[in-house]
Amino acid sequence: MKRTHILAAVNIMGGLNFGYNTGVIAGILTIWEDLGKEWHLSEAMQGIVTASILIGALVGSMIGGPIADHFGRKKAVLLLAIITLTGAPFLAAAPNVWVVIGARAFLGLAVGMSGVICPMYVSESAPPESKGQLGILFQVAITVGILHAYLFNYALKNIKYNWRVMFGCGAYPGLFLLAVWAVMPESPVWSLRRGVNNNETASLLKTNETEPPLGARLGIFIRSRALYIGLVLAVAQQLTGINAFMYYAGKVFGSAGISNPNYPTIGLGAWNAVSTLVGIPLVDRLGRRPLLVAGTLIMTVACFGLGVVYKYTHGDAKGYLAIGLLFIFVLAFEIGDGPLFWIVAHELFTPEIKTVGASTLNAAQWLFNIALTLGFPTVDKLIGSNVFYIFGLMGAIATIVLVIFLPETRNTAKN
Ligand code: BGC
Repeated sequence: MKRTHILAAVNIMGGLNFGYNTGVIAGILTIWEDLGKEWHLSEAMQGIVTASILIGALVGSMIGGPIADHFGRKKAVLLLAIITLTGAPFLAAAPNVWVVIGARAFLGLAVGMSGVICPMYVSESAPPESKGQLGILFQVAITVGILHAYLFNYALKNIKYNWRVMFGCGAYPGLFLLAVWAVMPESPVWSLRRGVNNNETASLLKTNETEPPLGARLGIFIRSRALYIGLVLAVAQQLTGINAFMYYAGKVFGSAGISNPNYPTIGLGAWNAVSTLVGIPLVDRLGRRPLLVAGTLIMTVACFGLGVVYKYTHGDAKGYLAIGLLFIFVLAFEIGDGPLFWIVAHELFTPEIKTVGASTLNAAQWLFNIALTLGFPTVDKLIGSNVFYIFGLMGAIATIVLVIFLPETRNTAKN
């Protein structure tokens, strides 16, 4: 198997794991609501079930970097596969909601770890001229995983124990990850740092630098501008609202006056997936910066537009305009902040603080994701569609910071 194929497979399987297992809950919550049986979950409890995987992912993102540094990228991928393969069947067989919460948090560890480990492995092993393209595949697969979950939800709607089937299917990316693990070589960067001799390694790296001690690295990290720019990227990824639209798409469409929200939800999921393809031919040619700045700016305009549409329009016009703006928002997210966050979270940092940097930005991204997922229903109830102005404001701040401070990282990513 060619090296680029293996790299593509690692990112695709990691992304599928992430997308399916986070996306599946949107459908399952509707099923629980629709049937009004099983465990009669209150709204607060639904929020906890949704967030449990995100909390696991937060922890996973923090431990993913150190695990990959200590044991190597290859063993870390094996761990991802094992957690997924054990967590999903456990979840499917859950006898009560507490087991669901625990098993989802466990599965979340693999989701969070994959966001650090897979892009890191690809960034360390890919030829410089295709790092961006191969990196975007992680997000392409996230969106395909989410779409798969939406479609499954729809197809299994009237089947008994459908939620158990849907949860159980979360194991399939683990199986593929296991297959990829069997053929993937260790990352050349990690091997060199560990002193494993290998000619390919030497040719891929510019220097054979030795790492400063942890304390010194943390000092460099806290003072690095990359950290703060990266945190703004994490804000742009999450606090501009993507998951409010993804997890609650049905409700958003419903409140725009569209009575059968199933089709627009699936349509939005498909659009989300297709949109990720736009950046592939551009990311290594134009660079990361123009896509991130343009994407964040367009998302900002779409959010303010949504605020205006909800307030000042009615009937069919409101529904169609809202959906149009949502589609524009999603397109812009999937060209910029969606895929590029995972890539730039590594490229922003110098080699000695790459692992701690990428893990920290991933963790911040999960924290904002949790805040949005848990907070959106309440904020939506309190201020209604004005919530879109808040998303717009976050986007506007992020756009300004990115225009002024975001460096182009395309050529800095040598290891
Ligand atoms: C984000 C997720 C989001 C997904 C949508 C990912 O990059 O981290 O929170 O649901 O994109 O495609």
